[in-house]
Amino acid sequence: MSPNTNAPQPSTDLADIRARLAASGQSHLLHFYDQLPASKRAALLAQIASLDLESLPALIEGYVRRAPKFELPRDLKPARFYAHDASRIPWDREKFRHVGETLIRSGKVAAFVVAGGQGSRLGYDGPKGCFQGGAVSGKSLFQIFADNLLGAMDRYSVRVPWYIMTSPLNHDATVDFFQKHGFFGLSSRDVMFFPQGVMPSLDMTSGRVLLSSPGEVATNPDGHGGAIRALHVSGALANMKSRGVEHVSYFQVDNPCVRVLDPVFLGLHAAASDSSAEMSSKMVPKASPEEKVGVFCEGDGKTQVIEYSDLPMDLQRERMPDGSLRFIAGSIAIHALSVDFIERLATDKSFALPYHRAEKKIPHVDLETGRAVTPDANNGVKLERFVFDALPMCKASILLETDRVEEFAPIKNASGADSPASSRDLQTLRASRWLASCGVHVPTRSDGQPDCVIEISPRTATCPEELARALPSGFTIAPGAKVAL
Ligand code: UD1
Repeated sequence: MSPNTNAPQPSTDLADIRARLAASGQSHLLHFYDQLPASKRAALLAQIASLDLESLPALIEGYVRRAPKFELPRDLKPARFYAHDASRIPWDREKFRHVGETLIRSGKVAAFVVAGGQGSRLGYDGPKGCFQGGAVSGKSLFQIFADNLLGAMDRYSVRVPWYIMTSPLNHDATVDFFQKHGFFGLSSRDVMFFPQGVMPSLDMTSGRVLLSSPGEVATNPDGHGGAIRALHVSGALANMKSRGVEHVSYFQVDNPCVRVLDPVFLGLHAAASDSSAEMSSKMVPKASPEEKVGVFCEGDGKTQVIEYSDLPMDLQRERMPDGSLRFIAGSIAIHALSVDFIERLATDKSFALPYHRAEKKIPHVDLETGRAVTPDANNGVKLERFVFDALPMCKASILLETDRVEEFAPIKNASGADSPASSRDLQTLRASRWLASCGVHVPTRSDGQPDCVIEISPRTATCPEELARALPSGFTIAPGAKVAL
C-alpha cells in the first residue's frame, strides 16, 4: 500500500520563507544559507517550508521560557477497569470474545504499530522494530508482529491490514527492512508505512530552533500523538475505510508479547455498555509505586492517563485496605480506536492534543562558529504529543486489566528493567506457564525460575489452548535447553 502524496505543498519561495521566519522570530535558520550549495539551499527551504512556524512563538513562551505546570483534576480518582479475574468483579468474557472474533473475522479490524520513536535508550542504531527481540529465534520485533498477524489470518480466514507509523528519520530504513525480508510472508498490499510529523528541536535557553547542520533544521518526531493527524494526511484512514475497517488495534514497537489482535479487548471496546467504542485501553497492575508507567485515572468525569512524573508520589503510594495500590492501573500503551473517532479528531480544525516538554541533549551547529556541538548536558527541548491524551475526548472509555506476564515484556533499555534480557526472561516465563498448563514439565532452577529459554511464536499459539493443539505428542524440555516453538 502506498501513502497519499497529493497533500498541498507549502511555498518554498525564499522571500515567503524569510517573511515567515521573521514573523516567528527564527530568521537565524537561514544564517548559513548563502554559503550552501544550490541543492542544499533547496532542501533547507523545503524543510523550513514544511514546519508550522506560526505556532512556534506561543509554544516557546508556554513550554520553553517556562516549564508548563501540570494541573491535577480536583476530583481525581483511580480509573475503573474490567478485572482480569472475572470471578472477582463478574463480566462475561466469552460474550465479548465472540464479539471481537466476529469483528476480526469480518475484516473490520486493522493492526497499527507506532514505530516512529528514536529508541535512544536502547542504544540501537536503527528502527527499533528491526531489533532482534525473539528470546531464542532472534527474530526482529517486526517479524514477531508479522507472525502474530499471519497466525490471526490463518485462524480467522481473513486478511488483516497492518499500518506502520514511522518517522522521517527511520522511514526508509523501515521500508527497506520489510522489503529485504519479503514482508515476512505478508502481502505488501496489506502493509502500509507512513511517516509521522516532526517538530523543530528548540534551544532550552533562548527557545530558538536549532540547526543540526548549516543546511538542516534539527527536528524530532512529534510524539505518538502525531499518529492521529498522520493517519489522516497519509491516506491511511481513507485506506482503512475503503477496506471496511472500523477499529484499529494500536500497540508500541517495543513489546514482543503484545497480542496484536485480542478478541476479548476488541469486543469490550466495541460492545461494552459503558464504552462509546471510540478509544479503549489495557492496563496492568503497577509493580510498585515507583514503576515508571503512566497511570489510568478518572478526573472531570473522563478517563485519562497521567504520566508518572505528573502524579504526586504520595498519591502513587496510597494503598487500599487490602494492601493493593489505590492508583494501580499502569499503562502498557495498548489501545483500540475506532476509525470514526480518529477521523472526527483529525478533521476537527479545533482539535489539538497538548504538548509535553522533554529536556534532551541535542547535537547542533553553533551559529557563531559554524562548528558542530555535541552537548554533554541537556541543552534543548523536544515537544511531543501523546496519543493517550485523546482519551478524555471520548464520550466513555473502558479499561481492561491484563496479566503482565501474558502481555508485557518491553525492550526499552540496554540493560536492567525493560531490557532484552528481562524481555527474554518474561517471554520464557509466559511460555513456561502455557507449557505447564498443557502438562509439560518445565525444568526450574533452585530459585524457581525456568532453567531454559523458550519462545513460542504467535504463529504457533497466542494462548495455552492453542498451544495444546499445536504441541507434538511427548514434547519435553531438557534443563538448560533453548526451545523455539
Ligand atoms: C510509554 C508510555 C508510558 C507507558 C509505557 C509502556 C509515553 C509518553 N509513555 O513510555 O505511559 O507506561 O510506554 O511501555 O508514551 N513513538 C512514535 N513516535 C514518537 C515517539 C514515540 O512512534 O514520536 C513510539 C515509539 O516508537 C514506541 C512508543 O511510541 O513504540 C513509545 O515511545 P517511548 O517514548 O519509548 O515511550 P515510553 O517512555 O516507553
